[in-house]
Amino acid sequence: MEEFQSSVLVFFVNGKKIVDNEVDPEWTLLFYLRNKFRLCGTKLGCGEGGCGACTVMLSKYDRINKKIIHLPINACLAPVCGMHGLAVTTVEGIGSTRTKLHPVQERIAKSHGTQCGFCTPGIVMSMYTLLRNSPKPRMKDLEVTFQGNLCRCTGYRPIMEGYKTFTEEWELIQNGNRLNGEQGNGCGMGDKCCKLQNGTTKDPEEVLFNRNEFTPYDSSQEPIFPPELKISDQYDKQYLVIKGKTVTWFRPVNLEQLLQLKKQFPDAKLVVGNTEVGVEVKFKQMVYSVIIQPVLIPEMVAITNTEKGVRIGASAAFANIESYLKNEINRLPEEKTRIFKSVIDMLNWFAGKQIRSVGALGSNIMTGSPISDMLPILMANEVTLELQSRDNGKREVLLDGNFFTGYRTTIVKPEEILSAIYIPYTNSDRYCYAYKQAKRREDDIAIVNAAVNVTFEPKTDIIFDINVAFGGMSYKTVTSPKARSQLKGLPWNRHTLELAFTHLQEDLPLDPGAPGGMYLYRKSLTLSLFFKAFLAISADLEKYIPHIKIDKRELSGITSFESKEYKSAQYFTVVPNTQEKSDALQRPIIHKSAYKHATGEAIYCDDIPFFENELYLFLVTSTKSHAKILSIDPSEALAMEGVLYFVSDKDLDEGNNVMGYMHHDEKIFYTDIVTSQGQVIGGIVATDQLTARKAARKVKIEYEDRHPVIVTIADAIKHNSYFKNPDIVIVKGDVEKVFDEAPHVLEGECHIGGQEHFYLETQAVVAVPKKEDQEMDIYSATQAPTQLAEILAQVLGIQQNKIAVKTKRLGGGFGGKETKSIIVALPVAIAAVKLNRPVRCMLDRDEDIVITGGRHPFYIKYKIAFNNEGKILGASGQFYSNCGYSLDLSPLVLEHAITHFQNSYNIPVVRLEGYTCKTNLPSNTAFRGFGCPQAMFAAETMLQHIADYLNKDPVTLSELNLYKEGDVTFYNQKLTNCTIDKCWNECIQSFKYFEKRKGVDNFNRENRYKKRGLSVIPTTYGIGFPLPFLYQAGALVLVYTDGSVLLHHGGVEMGQGLQTKMIQVASRCLEIPIEKIHTVDVSTDKVPNTTATVASLSSDLNGVAVLRACNTIKERLQPYKEANPKGTWEEWVKKAYFDRVSLSSTGYYGDSDFGYNWETGEGQMYNYFTYGVACCEVEIDTLTGDHQVHSVEIVMDLGESLNPAIDVGQIEGGFMQGYGLFVLEELVYSPSGTNYTRGPGSYKLPGFGNIPGEFNVSLLKGVSNPRAVYSSKAVGEPPLFLGSSIVFAIKDAIKAARKKNGYDPGDFRLDSPATSAKIRMACQDNITAKFKEPEPGTFTPWNVLVE
Ligand SMILES: Cc1cc2nc3c(=O)[nH]c(=O)nc-3n(C[C@H](O)[C@H](O)[C@H](O)COP(=O)(O)OP(=O)(O)OC[C@H]3O[C@@H](n4cnc5c(N)ncnc54)[C@H](O)[C@@H]3O)c2cc1C
Ligand code: FES
Ligand code: FES
Repeated sequence: MEEFQSSVLVFFVNGKKIVDNEVDPEWTLLFYLRNKFRLCGTKLGCGEGGCGACTVMLSKYDRINKKIIHLPINACLAPVCGMHGLAVTTVEGIGSTRTKLHPVQERIAKSHGTQCGFCTPGIVMSMYTLLRNSPKPRMKDLEVTFQGNLCRCTGYRPIMEGYKTFTEEWELIQNGNRLNGEQGNGCGMGDKCCKLQNGTTKDPEEVLFNRNEFTPYDSSQEPIFPPELKISDQYDKQYLVIKGKTVTWFRPVNLEQLLQLKKQFPDAKLVVGNTEVGVEVKFKQMVYSVIIQPVLIPEMVAITNTEKGVRIGASAAFANIESYLKNEINRLPEEKTRIFKSVIDMLNWFAGKQIRSVGALGSNIMTGSPISDMLPILMANEVTLELQSRDNGKREVLLDGNFFTGYRTTIVKPEEILSAIYIPYTNSDRYCYAYKQAKRREDDIAIVNAAVNVTFEPKTDIIFDINVAFGGMSYKTVTSPKARSQLKGLPWNRHTLELAFTHLQEDLPLDPGAPGGMYLYRKSLTLSLFFKAFLAISADLEKYIPHIKIDKRELSGITSFESKEYKSAQYFTVVPNTQEKSDALQRPIIHKSAYKHATGEAIYCDDIPFFENELYLFLVTSTKSHAKILSIDPSEALAMEGVLYFVSDKDLDEGNNVMGYMHHDEKIFYTDIVTSQGQVIGGIVATDQLTARKAARKVKIEYEDRHPVIVTIADAIKHNSYFKNPDIVIVKGDVEKVFDEAPHVLEGECHIGGQEHFYLETQAVVAVPKKEDQEMDIYSATQAPTQLAEILAQVLGIQQNKIAVKTKRLGGGFGGKETKSIIVALPVAIAAVKLNRPVRCMLDRDEDIVITGGRHPFYIKYKIAFNNEGKILGASGQFYSNCGYSLDLSPLVLEHAITHFQNSYNIPVVRLEGYTCKTNLPSNTAFRGFGCPQAMFAAETMLQHIADYLNKDPVTLSELNLYKEGDVTFYNQKLTNCTIDKCWNECIQSFKYFEKRKGVDNFNRENRYKKRGLSVIPTTYGIGFPLPFLYQAGALVLVYTDGSVLLHHGGVEMGQGLQTKMIQVASRCLEIPIEKIHTVDVSTDKVPNTTATVASLSSDLNGVAVLRACNTIKERLQPYKEANPKGTWEEWVKKAYFDRVSLSSTGYYGDSDFGYNWETGEGQMYNYFTYGVACCEVEIDTLTGDHQVHSVEIVMDLGESLNPAIDVGQIEGGFMQGYGLFVLEELVYSPSGTNYTRGPGSYKLPGFGNIPGEFNVSLLKGVSNPRAVYSSKAVGEPPLFLGSSIVFAIKDAIKAARKKNGYDPGDFRLDSPATSAKIRMACQDNITAKFKEPEPGTFTPWNVLVE
């Protein structure tokens, strides 16, 4: 064997052969691609396999089946050494703007499927890999393909819309046929045919993009697999041994070598997909010095049929298992393959495709995770495991309750390996069902999972044997021995079911403080999931056992949600034919950077080429929520090779260690008392990122705990911990009098949890000191370049004119990169100045979440008076917001929240108080909606409260109270051009609310365990800050002698399409096509003193500035135009140049006429309002709390949209982010302030699977807005609240379930986020009734709700 040993890594990247004898086994493929080759198209979004931004295609030659296999993989987890003998394709390898775009790149761009573009290369590569394997995929394949990809901006709909055009279904529709043989409508637009849109006809031009322009996909044109890898198997035969500084990588090629290695290194880690180990190494700081990769050993990866069942090599990847078992299911009689079917069904909910491509079943077993999805199935069926060691050979053991000896420990000996798993065939009397409940259906870890394996006496309903296994109920997968022993011999009926419930409760105890929390939900789920299996098996038995009968309505407890059809329509005003072709305004043109997003050419902060001598900084942050720092000792870190410096408060002049955006209540470096985890203590500067990260973890910090640790709003109220008490009070009229005199008064409260921004690109900065005069360039992913320059200048003692902060684009911001980018930029800039070298830093996802804070959780108490019809007469409210450790923007957020407490309803008399709660959490900040969604949620909760009380449909109640033209808000603003009623009527009509209501009621009657619900939710969003100084903007327009135009302004592009819109404004004003206009970046040395890009205002502010600058140019060119009316733009420009006319101009906007005086209540709070309405239909599973969104209809008034495609994108993306806030995204904290939700594994954003089945968006036509540029309206934030329509539709469905189960339909509170746990527990029934809330004080809860 010796002659085949190699220590040189060989693989191919985009067709180019890489031969590397200096590779470090600790490097991931992503690190290698980005750092060694600067192939920066592949992005780092999380580093834990949860976001898909790093997706690349891995190709290999399958020598047995003689075919090339293409797999999507996560480059962030794939060890680069694992690439030996394989070919990797990155987004750069499939097309570029310089050569030719690949159709997957072209279609996502043209269908408006990119906004910030940071997720785009990963999505492109997932789609590309699918096409390489199946050039004509089905729609279902598309859904599966994107399970492992996240996008925070688009809401996914446009991506699916663009990629639909690759599918078989699309082609058939194009041909006028449907898959099921039904005749289609013959229109090329298929389901999007204008004639099919909601029963109305629409202008055929009213489409956001034209599919006929797509380049046809020709799979024969794809790059070929490297012939060398196909022809020769030399790399497959090599016993690879690569030694790094701390890790040695072995890739044996036969079992003998593997067993020998395991004998020699019993502590060695076997790594197959690295999807467990990679996460352990990165996030749990585990160090494994010997890694063995067994993937080339035939016995370890082969899947074969044997008498005992299917033998699966322990290192066989799930993707291979899936296709093998599917074949078996097709080949064999149904009764033989019931376990296979459970495995396949479960795999659909197991991680994403990238993980399933590489992760192995054997690894899943050996990891022994208590929430493994495979273990319950394998354990309930007591599969056989084959173990092997060098000295003792083979042995077989059963995977039963004895296999795990403790948390993630097994009976497998250190020198042994798991070599295979035998999954048995079933017979006609044996049934197997498995279930999983997670926070999000796709790509999420289980809360509880279960498998039930029952064998009956032949052809009877008498139980011969029953084995059930559960995950998520203990430190390991557990079975129920009592249920097994006590149910044998009993008939399968409701009586036995009750017995089973009793034994399951006995065998599945759960400590109320057990990790994972959700005590009552998990307990209820065990019985609910078993009940689902009971129903499913009853339905199976019903087929041949006459006395078993199952009510049709109960079938809804078995079936999953119907698969979605993905329909959508977008309505907007099409520009008239008379509009000049060159005039781009109001046309749905694509995002200026869309092609660059899709090809990976778009440069984000960390993609900026390395500077000479560059260093990397890794932050050292507090791990305590409230403590005194006793000592900070970086000596061990500083002694490491490659470490240069520990930057800290010692590098600052006396008194300079302060910062804060509007209030100077924060420190740059915390060195005395820490008041939250994640506060920056210092930073390790090293030659590279990996060294800096390792070293930072070696900085020793001693703390002394301080008390109290205030985490929740309840804690803050208890400890009277406020920044100001109260912070804000608004009074209009005498509310006490109204309460005294009103026919009805109700009191209530609601809680709204926080939200993590989860911009796909984390905070990043590069500081580059220049050689002269203290000049410095700061490349920062910030929404606030000027504010950053200001504070940097102040802290560094340098004039602002020497610091240029430059921002090209952000991979999403959502408010999180306004003040928070400063926290990262300051230490980096200080280190750069100190060392006089460029310094870079990009936060890891978990750091970003812990350091930067997010949306404020709110607790709102209300009291409301109304008459017999439900007309609101007055209200009072107390708003408590969880601000975290510093004020940041919290007072402004609170003001904004309070002024949106009425949402779209006229509340004539109010008394509102707001409290800024000071807690030991990261400091919360701006987040799309700026407090308003939280307050509006309270408004809708109140409305629903009244509706329940008066027993009326909330829709009638809302209609009655809706604002009308001329109404005056409680802060004295008269509503002009108020279109909320128009939006309302149009939305209800398009959605066919009343027809749908009948359908929902019918459905609910016919289905016992699934219920549907509807909602109609309005939003009235105030645009502008009542702080006039923030309402200013500048622009600089440069015209060159060739007629090209360069546009500078102060607004940062972060996916909202600002640059595109500004180019459109300039195009209209200068009367030139957009191709002549270019934007580069935002830079404080071009346009000074800019307002941060926030509050949806960037088009309003910068648009006017750009317009004014362009107008000046236009005026200067007017004489030339008049003198030569038939001339061209270029000719006029040239002529003006020769006449020495200035061809550059600034434009400035600062003359808005509004502002509000909080003392007197006088003035105008907002510039204008953006109105919108959403209707929604959902379905819930009352046994699990799962839900599915069937349809959503949105109508918004955006005035005369500058770009309907971008605006529709903002509406859809905002809506989906609101869906996340109100339903899916739950931040979980320990009672001592530790955030348990630090990445996509535990914090669930909406995914592709959450797209509403039908998703229609209309921009209200025939409306204008005199108060913004070209009559447009701001759009970024207003749609977010409409996402709450989902929660209110869910509430409607819960009411139906409660009514059916005999509980008061209105007597429950549904706080936000309405997670599956809250939904299930609100659907009270005989299962939930079995469990009681544990006595507070008798246990220490694992988590607390911060709201
Ligand atoms: C984003 C993401 C989503 C996930 N989703 C799910 C999910 O939905 N459900 C779920 O159950 N899991 C999930 N996981 C966990 C993980 O993917 C699975 O456990 C997977 O099966 C691990 O396979 P691997 O080959 O990548 O493991 P590796 O990281 O390569 O190895 C895992 C462990 O198994 C040991 N091991 C491997 N093979 C052997 C052997 N033959 N003998 C002895 N020991 C061995 C290794 O030493 C190591 O300790 C997810 C992980 C990620 C990152
Ligand atoms: S960066 Fe790899 S999955 Fe997120
Ligand atoms: S476009 Fe997908 S994350 Fe921004």
